[in-house]
Amino acid sequence: MARSWTPSSWRDMPIRQVPDYPDMAALAAMEQKLGRFPPLVFAGECERLKAELGRAGEGRAFVLQGGDCAESFSQFRTDDIRDTFRVLLQMAVVLTFGATVPVVKLGRMAGQFAKPRSSDVEKQGDVTLPSYRGDIINGAEFTEAARTPDPQRMEFAYLQSASTLNLLRAFSTGGYADLHQVHRWNLDFVGRSPLTAQYEGLAQRIDETLNFMAACGMNSENAPQIRETAFYTSHESLLLPYEQALTRLSSTHIGKHYACSAHFLWIGDRTRQPDGAHVEFLRGVANPIGMKVGPTMDAGELVALCKLLNPGNEMGRFTLISRMGAGKVAEKLPPLVRAVRDAGCNVVWLCDPMHGNTTTQAGYKTRSFDAILDEVRGFFDVHAAEGTVAGGVHVEMTGADVTECVGGAHRLTAANLSENYATFCDPRLNAEQSLELSFRIAEELKARRVTTERPARAAE
Ligand code: PEP
Ligand code: CO
Repeated sequence: MARSWTPSSWRDMPIRQVPDYPDMAALAAMEQKLGRFPPLVFAGECERLKAELGRAGEGRAFVLQGGDCAESFSQFRTDDIRDTFRVLLQMAVVLTFGATVPVVKLGRMAGQFAKPRSSDVEKQGDVTLPSYRGDIINGAEFTEAARTPDPQRMEFAYLQSASTLNLLRAFSTGGYADLHQVHRWNLDFVGRSPLTAQYEGLAQRIDETLNFMAACGMNSENAPQIRETAFYTSHESLLLPYEQALTRLSSTHIGKHYACSAHFLWIGDRTRQPDGAHVEFLRGVANPIGMKVGPTMDAGELVALCKLLNPGNEMGRFTLISRMGAGKVAEKLPPLVRAVRDAGCNVVWLCDPMHGNTTTQAGYKTRSFDAILDEVRGFFDVHAAEGTVAGGVHVEMTGADVTECVGGAHRLTAANLSENYATFCDPRLNAEQSLELSFRIAEELKARRVTTERPARAAE
């Protein structure tokens, strides 16, 4: 029989990646305070996202999840939020065309503050201090004061999340996301790209489609689908005191608890122990949830986790985010996909081509554009071979012109990394690289569609 669940039952389980707060009374006071703050998202929105993800699990939609590795207090700027949102919209239009299904847009935004670390401490010379765990926990600066976990930070993280989300909601429905506008930005990108010739064909076909729709009388004034978009937020569910404080019993979905810090929460690759606190917490909330699946995942354990985290086997409830690395995906992913499929577990499979492809070049953590694209292709290959659905992609990206990942049409090299390396944690694709990736994925999806459609036509 399933153990009973409460928003605090995670406290009885072993927990990893916890900050060592020196002042537990201050932590408790902050949890109380956050408990009185308004929820950031509403149960009905979470359910709508769950339904959209369910369609992605069946191949009737494609998911684009993207944003910073870690949001930060010091880089909290309107322009950065706007630019990342704009690039996500641009990518989504291209992917919609490639996949010929709606794209579910899910930002790693408005709450992506807490980071798991491979070591609890960082050593510089003779000094050892707690590792930086994200701005919601401590500061990145290498001083004792900054690195000491401070619960007051949760309040600013909440307020930053609320105002980021407010801007995203305004952009989504206030005219900024108009399809014609987004397409004009894409034409501008294609015109400037060294690979203009390669992308022009696809951009032109989108242009013709929009003109055709306009000729049929569908325009921004009369079709909300052209003028507006749905945009959802997500982050890693790592800092459980914060997540619990924002969990609410729904008044519209009776008896259900929702984690109201974001629409979608995921469990990281380091905190997915079946008897651990992070799995326990997400098991009981009704939001759509995800889990990272890395190369050390065992097939039996994965099936057990699917059953534990999605006991009703609801389609759209549970997303598995594969992050194997380009060199490992062909070997490590198939047994997992098969085990989940053969156990009859309903899941959405996404590909995170970032976290298995991190290297160090010229002293910087980086990722190569080619490895990222290779892993996505490998992921598509596995699903094609197993007869399962490749549901979407999960990327670390930004709308800013950073130099953090190498490669891409502008041929960024290790020597360029120092020019604008701004991330607080992992290297992100910049705006150009993100758009390029979406064009390459769209081409890939289209080519695969054509080859799978051909035999059906021949049989007609
Ligand atoms: C992340 O998504 O930023 C992350 C830490 O990923 P993972 O848990 O897969 O390492
Ligand atoms: Co990361």
